[in-house]
Amino acid sequence: MAAKALYQLQNVTKNFHLEGGVIEVLRGLTLDIAASAWVALVGRSGSGKTTLLHLLGGLDKPSAGHIQLDGQDIARMSAAQLTSLRRQRIGFVFQSYHLFPELTAWENAVLPALHWGRDREAAYQNARQWLHAFGLDDRLQHRPRELSGGEQQRVAIARALVNDPDIILADEPTGNLDAAAARGILDILKNVHLEQGKTLIMVTHDQALASQADRVIRLADGPPPMPRTAVTPAVAREK
Ligand SMILES: Nc1ncnc2c1ncn2[C@@H]1O[C@H](COP(=O)(O)OP(=O)(O)O)[C@@H](O)[C@H]1O
Ligand SMILES: [Mg+2]
Repeated sequence: MAAKALYQLQNVTKNFHLEGGVIEVLRGLTLDIAASAWVALVGRSGSGKTTLLHLLGGLDKPSAGHIQLDGQDIARMSAAQLTSLRRQRIGFVFQSYHLFPELTAWENAVLPALHWGRDREAAYQNARQWLHAFGLDDRLQHRPRELSGGEQQRVAIARALVNDPDIILADEPTGNLDAAAARGILDILKNVHLEQGKTLIMVTHDQALASQADRVIRLADGPPPMPRTAVTPAVAREK
């Protein structure tokens, strides 16, 4: 029997309406993503990888089509349902970290747990455990500007994990890092996926990195000359 689908995308289309017209970013995307999979999402710059990640995370809605998460249509969820989905099930890791500059590493990492109204002390301890696991014991009180890129990204991953989500959506999490730091981030994400069975969906430009995933989803795109045309349906290449 096939693994149970975590996500089911059916004919997903995403358009952006601008003054100059409509940009078709995703068109007729149909695919399943299994629970506990590690998926690499690849494609040329502008092919819609970030857009798709936002849709999967409930940060945006498709223009047409359906995205079901465990059988529930994300586009039909209320704002309150979406908020609780994002807090409880989804950890988002951004390419450029998105840490608050005035907060310490520890404060940044604990933030989503505080918003959830959980026990404060337990939340701080949980954040601290993740920072410890990522080798940041000596950096708890540092502000982002006092941290290297790799350290900032590790704080951002701790923040993404603090509410124990089962889905990690990572948008080029190694994009701004040198090779050694990138390897460290990849190891962290891989371990969390392997040891805890979390679904990992990662956008990357790095072919070597993508080839390590269970599955590669490639967003195809139109001809390169501007203005760019609609994206053709993603082709899922299974390893
Ligand atoms: N909020 C938006 N409004 C208008 N156009 C957007 C918006 N977000 C993305 N786009 C456009 O959609 C296309 C895909 O963007 P994106 O998903 O960020 O691509 P990728 O992550 O693959 O580089 C780009 O041409 C981008 O300019
Ligand atoms: Mg992007």
